[in-house]
Amino acid sequence: MADLEIDVERLDLRVHRPTIAQREAMAMAEPVREELVNKYQGKRFLLRTYGCQMNEHDTEIMAGLLQTMGYTATDVEEDADLILFNTCAVRENAENKVFGEIGRVRPLKHRNPNLLLGVCGCMPQEKAVQEKVQKTYPWIDLVFGTHNLHRLPELVETAMNSQETVMEVWDHAQYLVDDLPKARQDGLRAWVTIQYGCNKFCTYCIVPYTRGRERSRTLESIVDEVRGLVEAGYQEITLLGQNVNDYGLDLGIDFATLLRAVGQVDGINRVRFTTSNPWNFTDELIAAIAETSSVCEHIHLPVQSGSNRILSVMNRGYSREYYLRLVERIRAKIPDVALTTDIIVGFPSETDDDFQATLDLVREVRYDTAYTFMYSPRTGTPAATMPNLVEEDVTKYRLQQLMDVQNTISRQYNEQLVGTTAQVLVEGASKKNDAMLQGRTRSNKLVLLPREAGLIGSLVPVRIESANTWTLKGTVQR
Ligand code: SAH
Ligand code: SF4
Ligand code: F3S
Repeated sequence: MADLEIDVERLDLRVHRPTIAQREAMAMAEPVREELVNKYQGKRFLLRTYGCQMNEHDTEIMAGLLQTMGYTATDVEEDADLILFNTCAVRENAENKVFGEIGRVRPLKHRNPNLLLGVCGCMPQEKAVQEKVQKTYPWIDLVFGTHNLHRLPELVETAMNSQETVMEVWDHAQYLVDDLPKARQDGLRAWVTIQYGCNKFCTYCIVPYTRGRERSRTLESIVDEVRGLVEAGYQEITLLGQNVNDYGLDLGIDFATLLRAVGQVDGINRVRFTTSNPWNFTDELIAAIAETSSVCEHIHLPVQSGSNRILSVMNRGYSREYYLRLVERIRAKIPDVALTTDIIVGFPSETDDDFQATLDLVREVRYDTAYTFMYSPRTGTPAATMPNLVEEDVTKYRLQQLMDVQNTISRQYNEQLVGTTAQVLVEGASKKNDAMLQGRTRSNKLVLLPREAGLIGSLVPVRIESANTWTLKGTVQR
């Protein structure tokens, strides 16, 4: 590995371009050393995942690595020989949940003294979390971060032979590791990472610190992976990155080119992508979405706030007017597009007027769905030291108002669909009602259908018969 090390101090991290020698070495390296393959046969693992799709997908990679080592998956904590918490640091309540959980599972060690407990993902990238684990949760056996998850087999092996907490967290990604085994959770829909990290440094956000700088996978390796997935029967591919519009800046290509290439893979039914920062949403990208028939008519376009002053202190890099114009440009070319968003309320110094500007924007854009969050200060981010904090009661009141406005709009959209027919990809049993199946329209709306043999995994026309704020109900049209 030594010759792969990059001097990160001297590296221009905005433009991370591994050399050909590095790429070749990465391609040649075996993801799991031969001596560890199947070494742990008979042992069971349980992975708990928090946070975004990037983390969900990392969990699939870790499951793939563990299975190569001989482990099998279990859902039962008492049966597990390894429990790993793949964590999220984006808001404080996400972190508190994990600390609660690692306290709760401690007694399992009495039943099974060989049980390994681990914490990985975004939280360990924070120094304060590393220290807290060492001080307060010393029974944790294994701690690693987002940049070295491919080291899992070696770290498990070390932890098995150590009395101390094995902690290995890298500050930066030293090279791209593309070809790891993946145990995908679903046989229908697959996530494909196209870009790691984020360079945008929105002032509230911890992701650039936990995931490092933007690094793009090559178009060839992405298209190869997608081709393999389609051949294996996957119907829907979601391209993942924190800021997909910037895909390829470090390779001299752009996201529109990638989207067209993926969308044209033989036999592909549905392509999605997330997340698009409104910044750098080019006409060429809009055209690629509009002209590639497999690309679904849904764009997640986080706005965060409708106030220019707040957008500026958030360092979002666009104005309210730019955003509204972008929505117009998108709708002009993709008339049926579903738009969803993320909004933060109670950002430091947010006034009633700023919040009203957000409500007005939500009424003007009319999103299909909005994910709304109370601002949560993250140590190490610029916003964490900003003055004029908004009182929690005020933030809660604003959040409720925002949700009321958005829920009315979501319901109206859903009600308008009653009587129409939509193409639905049937995913499996409904999570809430055993007698029903669930699936999604191209615009990503959840549809419930009466259970029927042979439907799971198919794309079917469904007549929408009723609607509420969150779901549609329908029957297959024959
Ligand atoms: N890369 C994506 C967002 C990833 S984080 C993008 O730029 O859109 C997902 C969402 O969490 C963000 O869109 C934001 O709305 C929310 N979020 C991030 N940091 C937050 C914080 N400190 N407090 C509250 N919400 C936050
Ligand atoms: Fe966070 Fe902004 Fe990057 Fe999204 S674009 S991950 S909100 S810093
Ligand atoms: Fe959370 Fe890390 Fe994703 S902080 S939102 S799991 S990138």
